[in-house]
Amino acid sequence: MATTKITKEEWAVSEEYIARLREDNANFAALCGRPRLAHTETYGCQQNVNDTERIRGMLHKAGFEFTENAGEADLIIYNTCAVRENAEQKVFGRLGILKHLKEQRPELMVAVCGCMVQQEHITEKIKKVHDHVDLIFGTHALWRMPQLLYKAMHDAGVVVDITESDGSIAEDVPIMRDKEQKAWVSVMYGCNNFCTYCIVPYVRGRERSRAPEDIMAEVRCLVKNGTSEISLLGQNVNSYGKDLGLDIDFADLLRMINEIEGVRRIRFMTSHPKDLTDKLIYTIRDCDKVCKQLHLPFQAGSNKILKQMNRHYTREQYLAIIDKVKAEMPGIALTTDVIVGFPTETNEDFKDTMDIIKYVRYDSIFSFIYSRREGTPAAKLDFVLSDEEIHKNFDELLRVQNGICKEKNLEYVGRIETVLVDGVSKTNKELMTGRTESGKIVNFAGTPDMVGNYIDIRITKAKQWSLEGQIE
Ligand code: SAH
Ligand code: SF4
Ligand code: F3S
Repeated sequence: MATTKITKEEWAVSEEYIARLREDNANFAALCGRPRLAHTETYGCQQNVNDTERIRGMLHKAGFEFTENAGEADLIIYNTCAVRENAEQKVFGRLGILKHLKEQRPELMVAVCGCMVQQEHITEKIKKVHDHVDLIFGTHALWRMPQLLYKAMHDAGVVVDITESDGSIAEDVPIMRDKEQKAWVSVMYGCNNFCTYCIVPYVRGRERSRAPEDIMAEVRCLVKNGTSEISLLGQNVNSYGKDLGLDIDFADLLRMINEIEGVRRIRFMTSHPKDLTDKLIYTIRDCDKVCKQLHLPFQAGSNKILKQMNRHYTREQYLAIIDKVKAEMPGIALTTDVIVGFPTETNEDFKDTMDIIKYVRYDSIFSFIYSRREGTPAAKLDFVLSDEEIHKNFDELLRVQNGICKEKNLEYVGRIETVLVDGVSKTNKELMTGRTESGKIVNFAGTPDMVGNYIDIRITKAKQWSLEGQIE
């Protein structure tokens, strides 16, 4: 299906409802002596984080203010993830707790949106078990939130919109970002890959790329407002442009953004090995602003499992890419995603995964125990290994990788690294924190006015998950 944009007329309807909500909220504030407060919680990947920023952008325009404390909110929105069962269980747990809050304060509005509710069986369950939920909207309906919320606030009963509108992109939705210095920019939505374990293509729809001029305009606007680090987002970011018919691929897009004055760092995720071309490798190498960091999920080390996962590459092809990347950019930071316990995985297959971990020596990995997702092809497969064996393998993977991670961090001690300062450290409130070009967290003694600056830090200590240093 060709990519289309939500028309100006369609977006005008959302704007009209933003205005109505604004009027409602002004009346509320006049009556109650305080603004209406919204509380948002985000589960899942950066794509969802970026979607929540759009939700908050619309709410802000509609006159809502925000609170971190769900207990004092007038509107609570959960932006949910469906990728693994535990992500869904967390949300069901939260909804259970909210039931009591809603009993005490019936005027509280509860909304659930995002990937989880894009699955019909989940929405049915929420309607049945959690009838205190007022609004449910899926990933495709995000831009229609103003009219849906207005309806939910004025009508009795639950408002539901989980219709699919594959192939469309909403460009005009306002955005409210957390940070000034760095920003997520979605360059494409959806996924066409249908890895057999994964729910994402079902809940996010088919791949659709934003027009390059829209992306460039967003980046230029960000730079004007003080942003210098741009992270380009897509479930399969390096297949960018295939649907546009413009002869512009992801490597071209990187080059275009690299030329924007004021951009200092460019990151991107997630790349699929099957679309990682030599052209892209050379582009990462040659573009001075593109961080020498690559997240390249391999998921499993055995060719048998890779085939059953429908990943479209072999371990040999994956390792050939890694070898080439390392040869072209010595010292590049590599990260990956790995699944342990795919149903047909044997201990032999798992050894192949461990071999890749030991060979590549990733800076860090995101490892997951396979989680059965209803409606995906792998959900029909029987398990070879027991739960206990799968957990044992998972622990072994973590143990080996933790060692590699620490060794990799130790290599930084004594080096001077340029760090973009993010804020106060979460682990030690006395310290400031930032990231190196390679994406490592560095904590150091500094002052809050340094946020957004690039500062040279001499690395003095390597910890398991972060580095420590002093201003040079
Ligand atoms: N599009 C990205 C990320 C998708 S979701 C990619 O292809 O890499 C993030 C990660 O969750 C995946 O890389 C995979 O490792 C993991 N994942 C997806 N489905 C899963 C499942 N059913 N069980 C366990 N992990 C899963
Ligand atoms: Fe899921 Fe595979 Fe698409 Fe990634 S590439 S989102 S793992 S289907
Ligand atoms: Fe989860 Fe949806 Fe992202 S399923 S991982 S939030 S695309």
